Amino acid sequence: MDVGGWLRRLGLEQYGAAFRDNEIDDTVLPNLTAEDLKELGVGLVGHRRKLLDAIAALRAEASAPTPPSDAALEADEPAKDTAERRQVTVMFSDLVGSTALSARLDPEDLREVISAYQRCVAETVRRFGGFVARYLGDGVLIYFGYPAAHEDDAERAVRSGLALIDAVAMLPAPEPLQVRIAAATGLVVVGDLVGSGEAQEHDIVGETPNLAARLQAIAEPHTVIIAEATRRLLGNLFELRDLGPKDLKGIAGPVKTFAVLRASSVESRFEAMHPGILTALVGREEELQLLLRRWAKAKTGEGQVVLLSGEAGIGKSRLAAALMEEIAAEPHTRLRYFCSPQHTDSAFHPIIGQFERAAGFAYGDTPQTRLDKLDALLAQSATSRQDATLFAELLSLPDDGRYPALELAPEQRRQKTLEALDLQLETLAHSSPVLMIVEDAHWGDPTSLEAFGRTVDQIATLPALLIVTFRPEFEALWVGQPHVTALALNRLGHRDACSLIDHVIGNKLLPANIRQDIIERTDGIPLFVEEMTKAVLEAGSEPEVIPIAAAIPSSVLAVPASLHASLMARLDRLGSARELAQVGAAIGREFSHALLAAVMRKPEAELRASLDRLIGAGLLFRRGVPPHATYLFKHTLVQDAAYGTLLRKPRRALHARIADAFERQFADIAEGQPDQLARHCTEAGLIDKAAALWGKAGLRSLKRSAPVEAIEQLRRALGLIATLPGTPALRDEEIRFQVALLPPLMHVKGLAAPETKAATERALLLIEQAEALGEPPKDPLPLFRALRSIWVTNTTAFNGDLARESAAQILALAEKQSDKVMLMMAALRGLCIGAHGQLRGSPRALRSGDCALRSCRTSAAGDAVCQRSSVAGAVVPWLSRSRARKHRTRAQ
Ligand SMILES: Nc1ncnc2c1ncn2[C@@H]1O[C@H](COP(=O)(O)OP(=O)(O)OP(=O)(O)O)[C@@H](O)[C@H]1O
Ligand SMILES: [Mg+2]
Repeated sequence: MDVGGWLRRLGLEQYGAAFRDNEIDDTVLPNLTAEDLKELGVGLVGHRRKLLDAIAALRAEASAPTPPSDAALEADEPAKDTAERRQVTVMFSDLVGSTALSARLDPEDLREVISAYQRCVAETVRRFGGFVARYLGDGVLIYFGYPAAHEDDAERAVRSGLALIDAVAMLPAPEPLQVRIAAATGLVVVGDLVGSGEAQEHDIVGETPNLAARLQAIAEPHTVIIAEATRRLLGNLFELRDLGPKDLKGIAGPVKTFAVLRASSVESRFEAMHPGILTALVGREEELQLLLRRWAKAKTGEGQVVLLSGEAGIGKSRLAAALMEEIAAEPHTRLRYFCSPQHTDSAFHPIIGQFERAAGFAYGDTPQTRLDKLDALLAQSATSRQDATLFAELLSLPDDGRYPALELAPEQRRQKTLEALDLQLETLAHSSPVLMIVEDAHWGDPTSLEAFGRTVDQIATLPALLIVTFRPEFEALWVGQPHVTALALNRLGHRDACSLIDHVIGNKLLPANIRQDIIERTDGIPLFVEEMTKAVLEAGSEPEVIPIAAAIPSSVLAVPASLHASLMARLDRLGSARELAQVGAAIGREFSHALLAAVMRKPEAELRASLDRLIGAGLLFRRGVPPHATYLFKHTLVQDAAYGTLLRKPRRALHARIADAFERQFADIAEGQPDQLARHCTEAGLIDKAAALWGKAGLRSLKRSAPVEAIEQLRRALGLIATLPGTPALRDEEIRFQVALLPPLMHVKGLAAPETKAATERALLLIEQAEALGEPPKDPLPLFRALRSIWVTNTTAFNGDLARESAAQILALAEKQSDKVMLMMAALRGLCIGAHGQLRGSPRALRSGDCALRSCRTSAAGDAVCQRSSVAGAVVPWLSRSRARKHRTRAQ
């Protein structure tokens, strides 16, 4: 279908360019939501409505004959996606008793039943943002989280499963149809697995699809069952029945399984995700005070509105909860409204939800009971019979004759309902102050937003406070009025992030480096801090002590499963600009425009448009003006999520491209910051090159007195060398780096620390091995340094015998080499032996040192050695003092 033509037919051709730029084709079009349209720049509510209606019509059309899977639809397009690593909720739906059905029905009738079922699945799943990957006879394979992620993918999957059970039961068939549905969530590789760009394009591998298939096989007819990982992502959103652990073929260990009974009646998404006690509020004192001041003012009759904005997880709902806690003891009426990402087009959705909760509707209530409950609720606000009719209609309750029938056109009905809502608020506010909280206005349906807009105007003269929470993408048009306050929440500072971690870990212990890592990677976003900390806690096998860093697999500090979907959703909304996020992520948290351009090899205009998209989406910060600009990922976790989608092979290729760009076009950076180039060579699998570069970086760090960095870099070099087949040159390099590791280890870990000792022994072993292979190091310094290290370690640890032994070895080496610095160093042995109460060996050492010193002092070259060498620097004053002492003794 020609999307441009479709827009023209709707009279909305002005959006053609935006649709084209964002690659909205006929496969994506039916899935567009109001939120997507907003992002595409469709600002006018009227236009959005028109488009959404036309999209709904498209969906209905699509459900006519046997539908091709979404994968098949996409396969018509030239292949653009390659496979990715992703967290996906995989769902299987299977028609119960289809074999028996096939025995009873004429094949043609069977075909009709099956295709009606398939259409039903396709329509239902798409409505919830899922993707039909494949039809397998009467089974359907569905993905939530691919090709486009939503932050609530697991929830969408379960809701679609529940809806599907009902929808299939309603299908016309010779006998009622039933389905079995199962969902499992986990990391998979999905996409064009064979790289053909053809049939396999949306295939999936990993344990998750197997698990979902196995679970589906054990599901009872008419039920949705889920695996543990999916359950964790759902919080308390659904009522579940624990089916206990099950042994499933091909899956290791028993698997926890749950049957989903129904959506729970929990009040809000925030509460569903935080069952039990909330983490204590950290920081936000000023913000809370502001809310309390506005509340105090509102109670005097000067109604107030606070627009509470901030990115996902910054703590908007937590702050609103804190206000509720603060005023819990005061008499007031609380009205809470929750907009939902799955109901952005469903008129009055949050308002209906508020009515249902306030009236106390329960699962299994008959319509009659519900009407009675509504009656009781409306009596509190002395609602007129006419308005009660409107509210009953709003709640889709049947007319049992208790309310007068109203003959109104749809638009009139809408207007009257809005007026009835206004009146209800006014009545409630006159009996006690009202705290009204609208959560997540960015997902508000147009009608509810209109209703809340009316409240903003109306509230100025009522004893009521309205708090509206929303993310930055929502444009609140109510700002600027005197009774409206805009409050944007910022990230938490270092100290607050730390105390949030403390609250989460309770009385457990967290190694300092892990704490630091969490703080650095979560950028002061409370949600990230909480989830990362919980992920680390869960990885700890000991209940009280979190394992030390070395014992924690790196995957623990990867993106936590609970954040995966929301981070991926942000990236998927970028369309083609997502590739840029991946390239940027591979370069690093910060990258320059010039390097990016060199790696991306795209026309400059295209590059800038993609960068603007990332900046507009709040994922990147820009400093400076292109082409001299640099960019910074706003969140490390977004960078990690973008990088995490890349499979090994393309990731390696990308790093190789970056390394190549560095070397060719940024030689100065490659030279000045060898660690940067080393990192890309490592990731690109260019191991020998990477080893040499890490070594170079380590030696450079040593020169710059950066011992911590030096240790890390030299260790990386050595680690890589250990994986390579040995050659004389490589063995020589290994000795050099191992010996270079000793001084910074002494400095950072301690002179006699086990790490220092182990590294020294390793250095000596490497030298011995080289000698045994007939490749003694040409330069005696490494051996000297290794021996010196042993001497230092043992002297510090008061191991007199071992110290003497190494001192003797040093002296022997120094004499053999006639090296002045070594000789001076050997003089230290004299002091050492003296210190250990054995003076016999020291005169020879002191004499050697003394001669060396004198000869150093009398020759320019020797003096230079003295100046350069820290060893000499340390020894000279000692030698001078000991000579002076000797003279004094003689004089006496
Ligand atoms: N100041 C805080 N002190 C302690 N915990 C906090 C604080 N702010 C947020 N949190 C915790 O961080 C998590 C995310 O906060 P919250 O749900 O309030 O974010 P939000 O801004 O409402 O996000 P969304 O846009 O997704 O609704 C919650 O678990 C919450 O308890
Ligand atoms: Mg919230």
